[in-house]
Amino acid sequence: MSPKDTVVKVNPSMLILNEKKQEIYQNKPTNYDEIKKNIEEQGIITPLLVNKKTNVIIDGNVRLLIAMELGLKEVPVIYKELVEKEMDIKSVSANQQRIKSYSEILKEIEFFEQHYKIKKGQRTDLDPELKKIKENRDTALKGISRTTREKVKAIATLAEDLYGKESESFKGVFNSLDNQKTTLNGLYQHLLDLTQRKQNTKVIPLRYEVIKENTKIYNHSSDDMHEVESGSINAIITSPPYYKMKEYGNGENELGQEREIEEYLLNMRDIFRECYRVLRDDGSLFVNINDCVLGGRYQAIPHFFVLHMLEQGWVLNDEILWIKNNPTYTRGKRSVRSHEPIFHFVKSSDFYYNDSWLKDLTDKEDRISYGINKPNPKVKSGLDFRNGILSTNVSSTSDLRKKCKEEGFYLTHSATFPIDVPSICGLLTTRVGDTILDPFAGTSTVGLFARSNNRKFIGYDLNPEFVKASEVRIGGHLLYWPFSPFEKELSTVPVDNEPEGKVSSEYEILLSYMKPISPNQRKSFSNFTKTYDRCFRTIQKMR
Ligand SMILES: C[S@@+](CC[C@H](N)C(=O)[O-])C[C@H]1O[C@@H](n2cnc3c(N)ncnc32)[C@H](O)[C@@H]1O
Repeated sequence: MSPKDTVVKVNPSMLILNEKKQEIYQNKPTNYDEIKKNIEEQGIITPLLVNKKTNVIIDGNVRLLIAMELGLKEVPVIYKELVEKEMDIKSVSANQQRIKSYSEILKEIEFFEQHYKIKKGQRTDLDPELKKIKENRDTALKGISRTTREKVKAIATLAEDLYGKESESFKGVFNSLDNQKTTLNGLYQHLLDLTQRKQNTKVIPLRYEVIKENTKIYNHSSDDMHEVESGSINAIITSPPYYKMKEYGNGENELGQEREIEEYLLNMRDIFRECYRVLRDDGSLFVNINDCVLGGRYQAIPHFFVLHMLEQGWVLNDEILWIKNNPTYTRGKRSVRSHEPIFHFVKSSDFYYNDSWLKDLTDKEDRISYGINKPNPKVKSGLDFRNGILSTNVSSTSDLRKKCKEEGFYLTHSATFPIDVPSICGLLTTRVGDTILDPFAGTSTVGLFARSNNRKFIGYDLNPEFVKASEVRIGGHLLYWPFSPFEKELSTVPVDNEPEGKVSSEYEILLSYMKPISPNQRKSFSNFTKTYDRCFRTIQKMR
């Protein structure tokens, strides 16, 4: 409002609501009731801006609506001379103070981008006219941060490709954001996963399994592990899907997506009954499980889970605390949860357990010190195990993602645990040559530990993409897993191979020339080593 502006009192029925704004801002602003209360108490303080020629509102749709609701006889108005073609842009630009929903933000972005059109690839720095258009567009959009704009647009593009712009699902995507059922980043990741999974179906068969002598990964639910003989497994190390935390692309029947927690616990009970059957009497089961906050409260899922397991006959032997050095934020009036329990169950007190390696281990570079017998043990380390605490960073899947992409598919799994978890559990309760099972294998972190440390591995997962990613992961990492406390025992269990005699002598000669490549070598000669690595892996697969 400038000093020259004249404010006049006008009957609301003389004014016309701005349709363009109604189209963009369909919902009432979140503070509508507050504005209404203020107007009720103090009247309309900021005058409405109105097009002199047409009586259409430039700025003040909400105030006019409230005035009509309250039956006000007069509202303060400033009339503006505006040519028709400027009407939309001026009225939408005037709306920068409003608290907007994400659907409104999207419509506003689309409106401004349409108005200040810049074609893809056009150089705005070379053309003064385009430069001006860009400046105007940036000014118009300055109320919305660049990151928000980019995410909202990316979400719209992904949702449009998946469902079509006019579909109910498309609206549902933005409704879930507007109703705060999900976050911008969470929704973006979810839609990206769906898109990439759709693309994966073109290259990964509906069922994909890895069946080698010492590594078997089955692609079906682990509630039936008929391929595994009763009493044949030395250790089971696993992390089931947490209740309502993540979707793994396995449809409605996926564990963790049940309507009720009790149903989730019962489904898990079926799987752990199978685990009981296949585990040796001296074997161990480690389960990493976490709670979730629903309706503003923790659900005590790990506690109920333990009770179900005790009912099933398991003996609870230990609880290791996994502390995440870099946890994600926990919402609400509570502390950030940086720990997860790992429950150690056994079938009887006569189980195999070896913790002597904790005392014996040395670390050449003196970066990690293990065990209580060290003169100066360090507290922070991947394998620090004193006081039953395992402290690590959360794992990253970025390297594996890259590798999967090189192999022609996307990895959409983001809930893997760090290798330290199966390392501790596996070294404590298995020997070289033993068999380790993971009934929720995911990307086979457990398999990677097992095969890198001369144990056999059996995994189950519903999603063929994860089985394929496991194959990529185990195949590659067998070559340069940097740490094995049992080096002297290595090679007592062969890598997955054909029966002896089938291997040609040329192949033996070739293999004798090719050695695994260390991570440092990989860094310095990345292109060469990548090719070399592939050759080595291919040859290994041929064995
Ligand atoms: C938390 S993730 C396991 C991640 C794994 N520890 C890793 O490091 O990659 C749980 C996995 O269970 C799988 N899953 C869910 N329900 C299953 C079922 N009934 N049988 C087998 N796997 C299942 C999901 O596809 C998902 O990959």
